[in-house]
Amino acid sequence: MKHLSQSPLDPAFVQNPYPFYDQARASGDLFFWDAYDMPCAAGYGVVDAVLRDRRFGREAPACVAKPVPAHLEPFYVNENNSMLEREPPAHTRLRAQVMREFTGRKVHDLGPEIAQLSHHLIDQFPAGPFDLLGAFAEILPVTIIARMLGVPPGMERQLLDWSHAMVAMYQARRDRAIEDGAVAATLAFSDYVRGLINARRQAPRDDMISALVGETTGLSEAEIVSTVILLLNAGHEATVHTIGNGVAAILQNAVDPARAFATEISTNSTTNEMIRYDPPLHMFTRYALQDMELFGHMFRQGDQVALLLAAANRDARVFESPARFDVRRPVRANASFGAGIHFCVGAPLARLELNVALPILFERCPNLRLAGAPIYADRYHFRGFEQLMVEA
Ligand code: HEM
Repeated sequence: MKHLSQSPLDPAFVQNPYPFYDQARASGDLFFWDAYDMPCAAGYGVVDAVLRDRRFGREAPACVAKPVPAHLEPFYVNENNSMLEREPPAHTRLRAQVMREFTGRKVHDLGPEIAQLSHHLIDQFPAGPFDLLGAFAEILPVTIIARMLGVPPGMERQLLDWSHAMVAMYQARRDRAIEDGAVAATLAFSDYVRGLINARRQAPRDDMISALVGETTGLSEAEIVSTVILLLNAGHEATVHTIGNGVAAILQNAVDPARAFATEISTNSTTNEMIRYDPPLHMFTRYALQDMELFGHMFRQGDQVALLLAAANRDARVFESPARFDVRRPVRANASFGAGIHFCVGAPLARLELNVALPILFERCPNLRLAGAPIYADRYHFRGFEQLMVEA
């Protein structure tokens, strides 16, 4: 297996990881990424196959599970109750309760609310240059997922702060200050969610927290807290940057928004291309749950493998001229929402948010243009801009 030694902290790499991904894909089914000390896949076929392979999982098998340092205990107690970090049977039980709340019908019914909120945010755009992330992309998804769960309005900024502090644990650059910030956020966020759970137990409402506390769900209080936090965090972090990266791609590639968003079909193909071309989440890892030989490599139980979703989306064997942003590309599955049992629960909601909000944005702001070159934030493997300065 070929070794590649790219540092994930290298600023040039963080701004544009795609040339490295091309090199990685050309190295074979698997390459060894020295900086992460593990084999890694960059081609679509291998990434998709490993995500779907039940011999791999997100939960570390007992033979390699490391003791958690005392100062990180609260963070990992929360993580360990989250479906995202579990494998069956716990994963199946937790995911089933959430899926009941994410049926096609329930998600589809949010369309008018997303439209109304989009208009409300656009009404407040200032006259001069402004940051589209802060004014639009960041507010929309957190407001919708908070409403779905039943979090009172006015909490959005606080939810964003807690979420950013927790998610920072998964970026390549991590230090004690980030760890302490994540633990403090976990404790405060959990306390807040416990308060909401108690309130809904006393007086249920028509919201997702009330559904999760229902007696038939069989979820423990710790599992409900963790599920609510997961949904609130996952429910906005990635959508924000799919909107930001995608709007930048539209503006930088001379796409005519009037055509791209002319019909439901063209809108869907445009947003699908936004999701493929420059996704917000680039890398996920899996543990081998048993010994096996795969793609010419002997995996031992507990070995890790990294899967580069954004590299898979640029695989020329699957996507013609993959480096081209082409909103008329035929719609087909890509790797951005993952695959297999952990496939993104919120994919239909994220797609609906894009399909409803973006036509409104470009219809209301037909002259939307960049006000300066956007700079990606220094945090591999999450990809999104620090700011997206535009003028309407
Ligand atoms: C464009 C936006 C989004 C992207 C690109 C995205 C991407 C992903 C990916 C790649 C995974 C799989 C991780 C893995 O296999 O290890 C995932 C899982 C998940 N996502 Fe999303 N996501 C998005 C939006 C959302 C939204 C809006 C929600 C919730 C409302 C959500 C909730 C979840 C949950 C709960 C999981 C865990 C599923 C499981 O473990 O079974 N995501 N997402």
